[in-house]
Amino acid sequence: MREISAAVLIEGGRSTVLETLLLDDPGPGEVLVRMTAAGVCHSDLHVRDGHWERPGPIVMGHEGAGIIEQVGAGIDRAAIGRQVALTWYAPCLRCRNCQLGRQWICTASPALGHAMADGTTRTTRPDGTPVLTYLSIGTMATAQVVPAAAAIPMPDGIPDGVAALIGCGVSTGVGAVLKTADVPAGATVAVIGLGGVGLSCVMGAVIAGASRIIAVDVNRDKIELAGQLGATHWVHAAADGANVVDGIRTAAGNGGPDYVFEAIGLPQTIGQAIAALPPGGTAGLVGLTKYGEMATFEPFPFVDGGRRIIGSNYGSAVAGIDFPRYAGMFLQGRLPADRLIDRTIGLEDLEDAFDRLREGRAARQVIAFDPTGS
Ligand code: APR
Ligand code: ZN
Repeated sequence: MREISAAVLIEGGRSTVLETLLLDDPGPGEVLVRMTAAGVCHSDLHVRDGHWERPGPIVMGHEGAGIIEQVGAGIDRAAIGRQVALTWYAPCLRCRNCQLGRQWICTASPALGHAMADGTTRTTRPDGTPVLTYLSIGTMATAQVVPAAAAIPMPDGIPDGVAALIGCGVSTGVGAVLKTADVPAGATVAVIGLGGVGLSCVMGAVIAGASRIIAVDVNRDKIELAGQLGATHWVHAAADGANVVDGIRTAAGNGGPDYVFEAIGLPQTIGQAIAALPPGGTAGLVGLTKYGEMATFEPFPFVDGGRRIIGSNYGSAVAGIDFPRYAGMFLQGRLPADRLIDRTIGLEDLEDAFDRLREGRAARQVIAFDPTGS
């Protein structure tokens, strides 16, 4: 049992609160991770703002990295001291989708209950109230107990912030391009929305060998950063989006891009992604909308022109395989994920970080934890 500081959400739509919680020892099949870095992702903001209902109180954060300090029964003690990136979707490894190798759509992940596999939590308030952990990893805390299957060892030399980003934004964006859509070399690719996820789509398109990469955002700074990461063309989206579809088509040539990735989660931009496709084109939907939101499209051109829409969850990540692979690409200089981090903050700055993210002013903000763990 130890004390931790954690950003706790009591109810969507209210500010998060920094609380001192008690963290239990890891149970069987669990590990205790001292957090070193946690990214602030738009999905956290969806939860914070009440777009997705989540039970509270809950420790926020689902993008993080740290050092294993303690292991529960059944876990090799050799893991102690290892740097790990955390996956927010620890697979059960038993359901049909896991058996099919599609762990990103596991139907029995402990993450679905924001708790450990047995349904209980290791975090409590001093008065004994259990506190859930977002997606079973609740990374916005100085330390956390997580399912061992959520803690993926990193190769030596990975900065903490990069390890954290591999846990969500990088895998979601890079994987959408390389795994879900499997973009072939020479294809033309447009990316709408250049946050941590969209910029990772741009990096994925570079790795895939795309011939043109068209970066689209309302924010010029994001377009600039996308250019530094390898985007070849850009469209500065007008507030009403009126110039986006034609802008993408013109930049891509050949009637439109082979692939368009939407990395925001707005019906308007999903519509743009679909409308920009030429015959044979594919729209990869990566951004998550608010619950219950609808997007519409005209089916005739889809049949007539053999177009496709694909949903990409977590970049089709199999964390145990893909996280070390992406880390290796970073070490080779092929995946400069460190370039996404434009601000390093403390846990107490979280609400300010949410404000910046809401306004689209941040690429990736990363919470750095004090190495003493306090
Ligand atoms: N047109 C173009 N760009 C836009 C528009 C718009 N109408 N609205 C917002 N943007 C840009 C913002 O300027 C910002 O650069 O989209 C980007 C969104 O980035 P972030 O808020 O940082 O989001 P990110 O963390 O990358 O997540 C994107 O993926 O996993 C999901 O839930 C997540 O739905 C979210 C999406
Ligand atoms: Zn995320």
